[in-house]
Amino acid sequence: MAEDLSITVVGTGYVGLVSGTCLAAKGHSVRVLDLRTTVVENINRGIPTIHERGLADLLSAAVKAGRLEARVATSDAIGDADVVLLCVGTPSKDGAIDLAQIDAAARMVGGWLAHRHRFAAVVVKSTVVPGTTDTFVRQLLEEVSGKRVTDHFGLGMNPEFLREGEAVTDFMQPDRIVIGHEDVGTRALLERVYAPWNCEKLAVNTRTAEMIKYANNCLLALQISAVNELANVAAALGGIDFLDVVNGVGLDKRWNPRDQTGTRTTPAILSYLIPGCGFGGSCFPKDVEAMRTLACRVGVEPRVLQAVLDVNAAQPIAVLRPFFEALGGDLRGKTILLLGLAFKPETDDVRESASLRMARHLEGCGARVLAHDPVAGPQALAALGDGVIELVSDWATAAEEADGVIIATRWSEYAALATMDSALSGKPILDARRLLPAGVLSTATHLTVGYRSLPPLPAPTESR
Ligand SMILES: NC(=O)c1ccc[n+]([C@@H]2O[C@H](COP(=O)([O-])OP(=O)(O)OC[C@H]3O[C@@H](n4cnc5c(N)ncnc54)[C@H](O)[C@@H]3O)[C@@H](O)[C@H]2O)c1
Repeated sequence: MAEDLSITVVGTGYVGLVSGTCLAAKGHSVRVLDLRTTVVENINRGIPTIHERGLADLLSAAVKAGRLEARVATSDAIGDADVVLLCVGTPSKDGAIDLAQIDAAARMVGGWLAHRHRFAAVVVKSTVVPGTTDTFVRQLLEEVSGKRVTDHFGLGMNPEFLREGEAVTDFMQPDRIVIGHEDVGTRALLERVYAPWNCEKLAVNTRTAEMIKYANNCLLALQISAVNELANVAAALGGIDFLDVVNGVGLDKRWNPRDQTGTRTTPAILSYLIPGCGFGGSCFPKDVEAMRTLACRVGVEPRVLQAVLDVNAAQPIAVLRPFFEALGGDLRGKTILLLGLAFKPETDDVRESASLRMARHLEGCGARVLAHDPVAGPQALAALGDGVIELVSDWATAAEEADGVIIATRWSEYAALATMDSALSGKPILDARRLLPAGVLSTATHLTVGYRSLPPLPAPTESR
């Protein structure tokens, strides 16, 4: 068990609620704050307001054990914290990150610090561009509190790497913990916070901590866009299945080394070689965009980052091309079933989901769009507004009724399409996430990303 620290988490979204719950599960006394009263009430009943595997059990156990409570966010509600973690949103605005939530949270914490007589560390966990914590956040906290970093309070930056859908596991078993700090007091406190975690811990300054997070996401996004572009070339050429290419590339020991017994280690990065309809979510798109904008601001031309974004913006529509062709090029009056609305499986997050871009495009082309997602239907309806999609609960029946089907999110339940070949006979089935194995559909028209069959060779002309 941890040496019990008192930790207040500001913001109870995906990062804040998962962080707070896991820190409580490891033995700390946690208070989580949010502006939304209903969220606060639900958390105090042990009910998470986001969908994350394993979170509900952990949260209700922490609340029952008296290790976690929620309050509406005010300076007073911060309580007697040793460490305050800022986990508020940093959404995209005009290509940069919008620091409005960080601004409000930092002012609130500054007000609390003004009356605080004991040292406490304020730590930014939200994703902020390099140079934010040691300038913007520091100035606000010092201005509002009338106190100075190091002398009276500490300042840190502890980026979060959890992936939605795997958030609890990722938080409990992280690859590394980055302890960004401006003062030794904060470094010491963060080391105590994470004492129960047995993984590499990197102590760096706050700018480096911020840059590690952005470099990590930009490099992963770069790989996705590079793969999608190569897969599009393979499909345009025809006669190549890009998954065979992926297998061939993945046998290179630099991608897939062998361990001491000679067994392939098959690193998770290999899954980023599988082509699809592009990345979405609350992180990759906005992080790459924010880094591109920062690059411009500091006089570096962001050629690669721009290309990553351009490829990704075009990909959800580019993969629809063969689907349109199979339907005669005109979707007016056609009914299309879109399977999956969340930006990835196991989450209800639809932010920047490629699926929503497809939905808008299909509807804009005159199609009636039926849509299904195991958890993200209401969120998608709210994001899309009226009239774009109609949610269905029985997707298998809808698939039989539709003129064509698109798998847009890799939820495993959609693999059952493979057993519906005869019911889907003659219909185009676009697998935009490479979920279905090749050859499982023979009477339905199986379309996918990174593959197009070669047209039959023209019959030889008779020579005279
Ligand atoms: N979602 C992810 O997978 C993920 C992963 C790593 C890092 N991040 C980063 O973490 C940060 C949070 O992301 P998220 O997805 O949890 O965001 P989110 O939008 O889901 O949650 C933010 C929460 O903060 C609350 N909030 C806003 N202002 C507040 C204030 N002044 N006081 C108290 N609460 C306030 C909001 O009500 C909301 O509940 C972002 O910077 C994001 O880029 C997200």
